[in-house]
Amino acid sequence: IDPTINIIAEIQRLKKEKNAVILAHYYQESEIQDIADYIGDSLGLSQQAAKTDADVIVFAGVHFMAETAKILSPSKKVLLPDLKAGCSLSDSCPPHLFAKFKEQYPDHVVITYVNCTAELKALSDIVCTSSNAVQIVESLPEDQKIIFGPDRNLGDYVKKKTGRDLVLWNGACMVHEIFSQDKISDLRAQFPEAKFIAHPECEDHILAQADYIGSTSGMLKFTIEDDAQQYIVATESGILHQMQKASPTKTFIPAPPNNVCACNDCPHMKLNTLEKLYNCLYYELPEVDLPMDVVERARKPIERMLEISE
Ligand code: 13P
Ligand code: SF4
Repeated sequence: IDPTINIIAEIQRLKKEKNAVILAHYYQESEIQDIADYIGDSLGLSQQAAKTDADVIVFAGVHFMAETAKILSPSKKVLLPDLKAGCSLSDSCPPHLFAKFKEQYPDHVVITYVNCTAELKALSDIVCTSSNAVQIVESLPEDQKIIFGPDRNLGDYVKKKTGRDLVLWNGACMVHEIFSQDKISDLRAQFPEAKFIAHPECEDHILAQADYIGSTSGMLKFTIEDDAQQYIVATESGILHQMQKASPTKTFIPAPPNNVCACNDCPHMKLNTLEKLYNCLYYELPEVDLPMDVVERARKPIERMLEISE
């Protein structure tokens, strides 16, 4: 990139010229969030992708999110600043193994968490996100048998909330499994007024301590509406940028990880940079594309989710 250019001004110019929209997840670096047309959680981002009239969608997030946008808007060009931005949770559920798993439970409805490949969505009946997983499960008759995957932590949380007995795939997110229960307890002793808020991808013993559990946008909303002045936040640290922007006088502390990890950053999400975003808009590469038959099969379960979540 020419070092003399104003990268933010150039991104704005290219966006207009190409009728492009930038959709960013809360876990993106702050500079990317600040230039996005829409920032949101996985549900909000898929709703935006479905209704945008832009010709090009630049997805500042990870691969499965860009795939979901492509499935919902197949005629649009969907760009991802770094094609290697994957997801450990999605990787924990290879579709060929899930297909075998599913064969063992022929009378079960399959609900998949959106953090999975398009191939996996194509094997499922309904998709869900962390903000509507409970609602999706509750939309089914009480005696309906259900497989839930790939996230066992979210699955456990939904089981507790709904009282349903779900068959769980044993997958997890590497970022949400690093929190140290002991260090969180120490921090809470240090900040006794602070509320502890957590994402449902965290493990059960972490969620058990939480004052609030919700998706990224749920957590953000909670910190805006709640009257505490300090929050310990157990999720990827990118969300703290929006929390601090929305409540400048409040204090937000990332929940401490175990000794093996230095921080709560998602290494996949953080592969995207402003420079890569500029390049991808300029060259219209890398593009996320999918075979039409996968788009067709994966669209139905996502559309079912969007209908239930309206
Ligand atoms: P939400 O933003 O939907 O809560 O998802 C969190 C996440 O881990 C996305 O990768
Ligand atoms: Fe995947 Fe976890 Fe990163 Fe989200 S935070 S993209 S679930 S690895």
